Amino acid sequence: MSLGGVVHAHSHVSFFAHRGASALAPENTIEAFEQAINMGADYIELDIQMSQDGHLVVIHDDTLDRTTNASGDVSHYTLAQLKKLDAGSWFDVSYEGAKIPTLEDVFQAFGDHVHYCIEIKANQRSEYMIAKLHELIENYQLMDVVMVQSFDEDLLHLLRNIDVTYPLIQIISRPKSGFRGKNQLSHVESYADGLCLNARYTSPSFVKHARTKGLLVHMYTVNKRKDIKKWLNRGVTGIITDDLRLMEYFK
Ligand code: G3P
Ligand code: CA
Repeated sequence: MSLGGVVHAHSHVSFFAHRGASALAPENTIEAFEQAINMGADYIELDIQMSQDGHLVVIHDDTLDRTTNASGDVSHYTLAQLKKLDAGSWFDVSYEGAKIPTLEDVFQAFGDHVHYCIEIKANQRSEYMIAKLHELIENYQLMDVVMVQSFDEDLLHLLRNIDVTYPLIQIISRPKSGFRGKNQLSHVESYADGLCLNARYTSPSFVKHARTKGLLVHMYTVNKRKDIKKWLNRGVTGIITDDLRLMEYFK
């Protein structure tokens, strides 16, 4: 399998499978990542939280309620307890028994055959979490195929301070406009390599200024063909989508 996969008409554009192929399989499971890789996604995007006993587990919400057959905070469960849960039935009965993977499970399953966009969800034990994440990336020698992103600037600073070589991406839901937007970009540029922006609240001029600075610009979560086209024409470098079937229009 070749790294980077698909060659797009917009050759610099990467397609990110948001939580895996989440339109077709239960998000953040090995099944969803496998499907994304088979469909030719350039990156699999995944979210990490920490179990009570300090393991990095791949799940979006702080709580188990929406995507498993249990309830309550992820951080109140040990890995052994989390591994007993069904993370597939909520999506479709055919996925009954799908598990919450650890980040290590994902690295073991796919190695360097794919690029990873790892989103760290905020946690009270963030320094430990960051150290653990970096150690795993190094142990599996995945420095050249990962990028790490977060809404939380402090988490990105912790990684920057240990001189990581992989790209760091600041996620922003509502970028500022005008002069304040330019200041925001100058600030982000001081510690990150790119931005991941909410397509709903981002202006074309913010994207343009970010690109002028050479920052990577990924848009989330873009699930309509016409919107992908619009953002590609505005010069973004990545599209984060639940629906990888849309990629075929842009190859
Ligand atoms: O890649 C950005 C996107 O994943 C951020 O939002 O809530 O889906 O993690 P969320
Ligand atoms: Ca995410």
